[in-house]
Amino acid sequence: MTKARVRAPAKINLTLHVTGQRDDGYHLLDSLVVFAPVHDLLEVGFSARGMTLSVSGPEAAGVPCDDSNLVLRAARLVCDDISVKLTKFLPAASGIGGGSADAAAVLRALLLRGLSLDEDQLGARLSHLAAALDLQKLGADLPMCMMNRPLRATGIGETLTPVPDLPPLPAVLVNPRKPVSTPAVFRAMTRRDNPPMPAHLPRFADAADLVAFLQTQRNDMQPAAEGIEPAVGQVLDALGRLPGCGLARLSGSGATCFGLFAAATQADLDQMAAEIRAAHPDWWVAPALLGDVSDWGMPRFS
Ligand code: C5P
Repeated sequence: MTKARVRAPAKINLTLHVTGQRDDGYHLLDSLVVFAPVHDLLEVGFSARGMTLSVSGPEAAGVPCDDSNLVLRAARLVCDDISVKLTKFLPAASGIGGGSADAAAVLRALLLRGLSLDEDQLGARLSHLAAALDLQKLGADLPMCMMNRPLRATGIGETLTPVPDLPPLPAVLVNPRKPVSTPAVFRAMTRRDNPPMPAHLPRFADAADLVAFLQTQRNDMQPAAEGIEPAVGQVLDALGRLPGCGLARLSGSGATCFGLFAAATQADLDQMAAEIRAAHPDWWVAPALLGDVSDWGMPRFS
């Protein structure tokens, strides 16, 4: 067993309420998070001497191969000898996890191999490890990206409560290929004391029921992100005009947005994605069923 292939799925913030700010500057959040079967790919070699990282793929431009990459920083928590080949399909600095998802994927591979755990046991270990991570060095999205299943994130993003039985959501994801700086969006926000989501989330009968609830919630970073990057507004307009779009919203600090289509089939989503690609060949577009991809994000060893 010298190699693992592991997928790093995109995370989507269906809601992102900014509810306060800590003395150290970090913001308090309340976010309903799901994952998409749209991913980066990591090949982890265990027989290497020293740590190496290579990056390739359609979205590799500008992604560092040195210690500033979260993949290497996270891997060093567990070992000193691995090689990682990272293929980037997710746009960088785009509000859908990206670097955090890659770092979480390498940790899943290292833990599953080193500890001989089954997938349920690994889930419990990941929760413990997620709580102990130094988020200021590794990124506040890393713990949630280790879970890959619907959850509610509070604190600065590290307090995770699974949300079971969330209906899968047919969606189209669109990024205008403009990187957005998360700290810049936080700085541009005018209010940091917004209300949280309801203390108890309702049970949702189906995707339409969930979309109706989401319409009553918010991404508090969206107005500031639209101000910093006007392409965000163009993407939201394009998604909102598609037939059957129940909600178009920004994920994280952007610039990736999602459109939700409760009644759409996979063929409908593919068709809408094709239309957006034809009108905007420079945008990144992905049809996806949002929800639980925890099985799908597990490492495969050879
Ligand atoms: O955790 P991540 O590296 O994505 O965060 C980038 C920056 O966003 C942090 O350095 C911090 O300035 C800001 N941030 C914040 N509150 C959070 C998460 C991130 O202010 N909960």
